[in-house]
Formats: sequence, C-alpha cells, structure tokens
Amino acid sequence: MKAVLCKEYGPPESLVIEEVPSPKPGKGQVVIAVKAAGVNFPDVLIIQNKYQFRPPLPFSPGGEVAGIIKEVGEGVTQVKPGDRVIGSVGWGGFAQEVACDQARLIPIPDALDLVSASAFMLTYGTSHYALKNRAQLKAGETLLVLGAAGGVGLAAVELGVLMGARVIAAASSQDKVDLCISRGAAGGIVYPEGPLDRDAQRKLSDDFKNVMGGEGANVIYDAVGGTYAEPALRAIAWEGRYLVIGFPAGIPSIPLNLTLLKGCQIIGVFWGAFTARDPKGNQENIAELMGFAQSGRLKPYVSKTYPMAKVAEALNEMAARKVKGKIALTMD
Ligand SMILES: NC(=O)c1ccc[n+]([C@@H]2O[C@H](COP(=O)([O-])OP(=O)(O)OC[C@H]3O[C@@H](n4cnc5c(N)ncnc54)[C@H](OP(=O)(O)O)[C@@H]3O)[C@@H](O)[C@H]2O)c1
Repeated sequence: MKAVLCKEYGPPESLVIEEVPSPKPGKGQVVIAVKAAGVNFPDVLIIQNKYQFRPPLPFSPGGEVAGIIKEVGEGVTQVKPGDRVIGSVGWGGFAQEVACDQARLIPIPDALDLVSASAFMLTYGTSHYALKNRAQLKAGETLLVLGAAGGVGLAAVELGVLMGARVIAAASSQDKVDLCISRGAAGGIVYPEGPLDRDAQRKLSDDFKNVMGGEGANVIYDAVGGTYAEPALRAIAWEGRYLVIGFPAGIPSIPLNLTLLKGCQIIGVFWGAFTARDPKGNQENIAELMGFAQSGRLKPYVSKTYPMAKVAEALNEMAARKVKGKIALTMD
C-alpha cells in the first residue's frame, strides 16, 4: 500500500510517498482501508516537530480517516469487515491503510458520505467539547469566534448556532466572513492579516465591541491566538468565558488584570486529552454529534479534496490560511 511519509522533520515539500507493507491489526485493533483523510492544522505542525504529539520517524501524518474495515484483530467485537467507520488515529492516516484501536472507531451514520465523515470528528468534537463542556454556552448568549472560517472555527460557528447563541464570526477576509454567515452566523468582522501593532490592536478591540454591541461577547472561541487574543479579551462581557483553542498566529501573553476587570475566565481546551481522560463523557458527546449528522443538522463544509500525491499542496494551503472550512485527502 502507498503512504505519505515524514522521514525527516520539515515543510510539506519534505514529505514523500512510498510503497510500504500493509499494517496488521494487533489485539483489539482493526485495519481500515482509508478512502479519505481530513486535513487539520495539527498535520502542518506534526511534520515540523512543533506539535504536542511526537511520533517516532518515519511516520505518516493524518489524524482522522474515514473508510471501510478491511480486517479485524483478536478481541474485536463491536465492528466487522465491510463496516464504514471514522478512525481517530492521531497520526498514520495519510495512507491507503491504517491500523486503529477499536475504542477509537465511530460507525458512520448513513447520512454522511466518506469524505464528509473524514472531516467531521476532530473539528466538531473539539468545538462541541469547548462550547458545551468547557464554556457551558447558553441560548441567547453572544459567541465571538476568531478564525471562524477555518476547520474548528466553522464548526464552532455551526454548533454555536445550533445551541441558540448569537454568533459573530471574525476572519481575515470578507469571503470567509460571508461563508460563516451562510452557515448561520448573525454577523461578522474582517480583521487585518497581522501581526497587529498596538494601534491596530486597539482599533480591533473597538471594532469587536461595536460589532457585538451590548456588553460584548459572553463566550470567545479563539482558534488563532497571536496579536488577536488581547483585543478579543478586551471585548469580553462581564463574567465571560474565553476559550483557548490554538495558536496558528503565535502563542500570546495576556495581562492578567483584564480577567479581574471583566470577572472573566480564560479556559484551556484540549479535546484529545478529554477523549482519553473521560471516555464516557466523550461517548456521550459523540452520540450527540452523530445524531446531529444523521438528522442533517451538521455536515462539514469540505471546500476541496486533494489526491494523495498533492499532500504538500494541501498542507501549504492550510499553512498560508487559504483554506475555507475543511479540506481532505482522497486515497484512491
Ligand atoms: N485545543 C484543541 O483541542 C484543538 C483541537 C484541534 C485543533 N486545535 C488547534 O486549532 C487551531 C486551528 O486548527 P484548524 O485545523 O481549524 O486549522 P485551520 O482550518 O487552518 O484554521 C485556522 C485559522 O487560523 C487563522 N490564522 C490566523 N493566523 C494564521 C496564521 N499565521 N497561519 C495560519 N492560519 C492563521 C486562519 O483564519 P484567518 O485567515 O481568518 O485568520 C485559519 O482559518 C490549530 O492551532 C490547531 O492546532 C486545537
């Protein structure tokens, strides 16, 4: 079988595609014939040794896949060959076949095609956990999403709308904001590409306050970080909740006095750790999300698919913040 391989850390161009032996399922594992793999920002980071998980070289990137079960190992009881499944593999997914623990499989609802399924779990899983479990977002609250047209960002917009919030989408182009509005956001704001100097940060904070009106944002979903974080925090409402999701624009430092002045909370969100530490809570969330998928209330916006041979192009588009919604690699 063919696999995308990271043999040395570096930019997407340093990835190679090679013929490698098919994986064998270990105890409690299955082998998935991968049809599509969702592409996520962590894939850009993991090949540069900049992510929190550091698989030994050589490895295939690709954290989530959708495909058909090819083979099951000893002790596998919940699935069988031929089943359509999502595999949350962490890495190894940019390949024609991947081994996956039974516990990390999710049956695909009939309403989802395989490409949509490959782009579903990481983004909706993260944003659902963030908004529901961490922020306890309530109907009628105002939710500001930074990086709103990206993978996790657009998922936060859609889930915020489903939860009854008034969602304001912030992104770096009008096109991106328009996409968010077409997916249910009540309004939006275009911010400069950055990094922002002090004056630009002050202006952005005023712009955030103006677009939200009232007291500001009850919940802020920050999938961007960098020089966008402080202006956003300055536009939070009294007792607001600020969700720390990711740092494509850099890791910000925040003056802690702002939390005192706003009586607000800064809340870290690490979905992968949650799934490992609270399997029961994770199962409840997955069941809820799959219900939304089956009833047609959630379906990822996959703006483009790339064949495996174009993996570097796909990852470069993501690093250059050109992607809208989700992209996926197809393996046939
Ligand atoms: N906490 C968790 O559990 C968890 C789970 C999954 C992902 N994440 C993290 O969430 C972040 C977003 O992941 P994603 O897969 O949704 O990525 P994505 O689709 O590429 O979205 C990231 C967004 O960040 C914005 N951005 C701002 N500055 C950027 C820069 N210098 N380079 C690239 N993008 C920039 C872009 O929007 P604009 O152009 O509109 O600014 C882009 O749409 C990543 O840091 C990822 O590691 C965290």
